[in-house]
Amino acid sequence: MGLFKNYVSQTRKPEGFLGKMMLGGMNSGHAKLADWGFTHLPAMTPESAADLGCGGGRNAGELLNKYPKAHVTAVDYSELSVRKAKDYNKAMIEAGRCEVLQGDVSDLQLPKETFDLATAFETIYFWPGLEKCFSQVAKVLKPGGYFMICNESDGTDPTSLKFEKIIDGMRNYTAEEIEAALRAAGFSEVTNDHHPSKPWITVLARK
Ligand SMILES: C[S@@+](CC[C@H](N)C(=O)[O-])C[C@H]1O[C@@H](n2cnc3c(N)ncnc32)[C@H](O)[C@@H]1O
Repeated sequence: MGLFKNYVSQTRKPEGFLGKMMLGGMNSGHAKLADWGFTHLPAMTPESAADLGCGGGRNAGELLNKYPKAHVTAVDYSELSVRKAKDYNKAMIEAGRCEVLQGDVSDLQLPKETFDLATAFETIYFWPGLEKCFSQVAKVLKPGGYFMICNESDGTDPTSLKFEKIIDGMRNYTAEEIEAALRAAGFSEVTNDHHPSKPWITVLARK
């Protein structure tokens, strides 16, 4: 595998030296997108939130800041991401407000009907089957709980489609494809928004 392909493929599951380098830039690289995504959340005071495919843990940290009464669980299947997210949220973990777990979203080992809110930033491209994984999210959300997905690709932008060809197992989705998978997994009140000038999308759904 060429070095470039190997490096960009670290975004799917960060591992080893290149994965460490990739994770180093992920928190800052995705911050603007994530902050735009956060503006779509409805007014709520969740007791319990989960950030799925948490990468370096910055967005779990943002959930902790945004909802000072919430406990936040961050999940990622990469050991390296888990380590980085634990490091990023060390103070909150010590304060008992956060935990970071290694796990796969296609088989979520979290207690059922527990979370008021789940988020997924820049990660569903790599999930093995949207409907199956969204059903797992629905399983752990409380009835009425929200699930928000935020992607920098709207499924049609040329840059992301190029990466799809380079990164094995990556798939870009349109907001409509995401919406359909959410409804099939049992979600309702599904809405989406496109950024006015970038190919960014947010899809919000309710269990
Ligand atoms: C591009 S990174 C995004 C990280 C973070 N959400 C952000 O916005 O910076 C994708 C992350 O999703 C994780 N991931 C991909 N597929 C996953 C799965 N099936 N289960 C859990 N984590 C997954 C990867 O390990 C990686 O850390």
